Amino acid sequence: MDKIVSLCRRRGFVFPSSEIYGGIGSTYDYGHYGVLAKNNIRELWFQTMVQERDDMVALDSAIILNPRVWEASGHVGGFTDPLVDCRTCKLRFRADKLDEAQCGRRPSKHPGEYSECDLTEARQFNLMFQTHVGALEGESSLAYLRPETAQGIFVNFKNVLQIARRKPPFGIAQVGKSFRNEITPGNFLFRMREFEQMEMEYFVPSQDAEQWFQYWVEERFRWYLSLGLRESRLRKREHEASERSHYSSATTDLEYLYPIGWSELEGIANRGDYDLTQHTQHSGAKLEFVGEDGERYTPHVIEPAVSIDRILLAFLVDAYDEEIVAERQRTVLRLHPRVAPVKAAILPLIAKNADMVDRARSLYQELRKGQIVEYDDGGAIGRRYRRQDEIGTPFAFTIDDQTLEDDTVTVRDRDSLAQKRLPLAGVRNWLGDALERPWQTPKPS
Ligand code: GAP
Repeated sequence: MDKIVSLCRRRGFVFPSSEIYGGIGSTYDYGHYGVLAKNNIRELWFQTMVQERDDMVALDSAIILNPRVWEASGHVGGFTDPLVDCRTCKLRFRADKLDEAQCGRRPSKHPGEYSECDLTEARQFNLMFQTHVGALEGESSLAYLRPETAQGIFVNFKNVLQIARRKPPFGIAQVGKSFRNEITPGNFLFRMREFEQMEMEYFVPSQDAEQWFQYWVEERFRWYLSLGLRESRLRKREHEASERSHYSSATTDLEYLYPIGWSELEGIANRGDYDLTQHTQHSGAKLEFVGEDGERYTPHVIEPAVSIDRILLAFLVDAYDEEIVAERQRTVLRLHPRVAPVKAAILPLIAKNADMVDRARSLYQELRKGQIVEYDDGGAIGRRYRRQDEIGTPFAFTIDDQTLEDDTVTVRDRDSLAQKRLPLAGVRNWLGDALERPWQTPKPS
């Protein structure tokens, strides 16, 4: 994890938030390459979940909802972690994760194990951030930053059903920021206090729920493999009944082998009719499906839920590689080309050669209309390649002496380091095709 954190910092993927003030726990800012990679992940998810399907519509609901939403959903009463404080070292720990925490005075021991530890009884701590709406600070204006995007979908169920003219099975997909006052923060992008969720609520007749649940587990598993994640690092894990959230009747996690061990990348839950029933009871609005023949029922819900941040971390971990090339160490991010922040680099071999620079810049102008590409004429060519390797750029086009003679360029492949020549005029199409091709990591499983 340290190597990933350091690469992200060095190359401007991710910065600790408000760093000049000492940062703020588990909150990160994304720099240029982080933004580009996140955009790609969001677009790839949206393309698979919405664009390429007939049974899906999109939604972008507000972050701050009527606080009654969170009473109905069970979050005000139940979205809690059990906490203990240590009276000696003044640190706070998750009561159910003491075996993963370190004692403040004796980090080699767990809280409670050292003779001076003095732990309080566990008490429940709500993870929702509170805020106030309007000018008055009081009970009446209390509101919450959403801890999941899902509830914005449930409370819009009726609107979408009327306008989108859909009938179950159909889904509503949403991407947006969620907020949780996590007590055991840390582990970089894995557990943040502010993160970007991608959730989809799929509404089905109750008798079909189990079948759709299995369908979405398989679909989502395949999606990660299609983007090059190594199968040996991805697994499905069914939750025990005792682990499930209050709304869930079945949950399967897709777990990735992060440096912290096997951990939840994405969760797929069968939420039953819990949410629509709760909101019907609390709001008085009947959230049910009514068919043309008068048939009416409350659909059940299957939910694949993930954050872009956890996906990006999994991709970075899976992609990170070091190797010795020509007696020098090369650090390379072997990202799927469609996930890579920059698709190609355009490099004039000699930065002082005006003809090479001209050709390179005009190729750059042409390619940037369709893709995120980068022009770089700073430093020796080897160093420029290394820089692109570290941000995962899959292809580099080099303009050299031969280009001036026969209008061809060299294309260098990030993974194999193979080089070949292409006609300058065909580079744009070549790149478009290369990005469409299936890709597999050369890293061993
Ligand atoms: N609507 C269901 C829901 O929110 P969850 O398991 O609490 O379920 C879903 O969260 C996904 O959101 C997780 O699988 C993970 O990808 C992501 N996630 C949750 N908490 C996170 C955090 N603190 N930082 C980053 N991602 C988080």
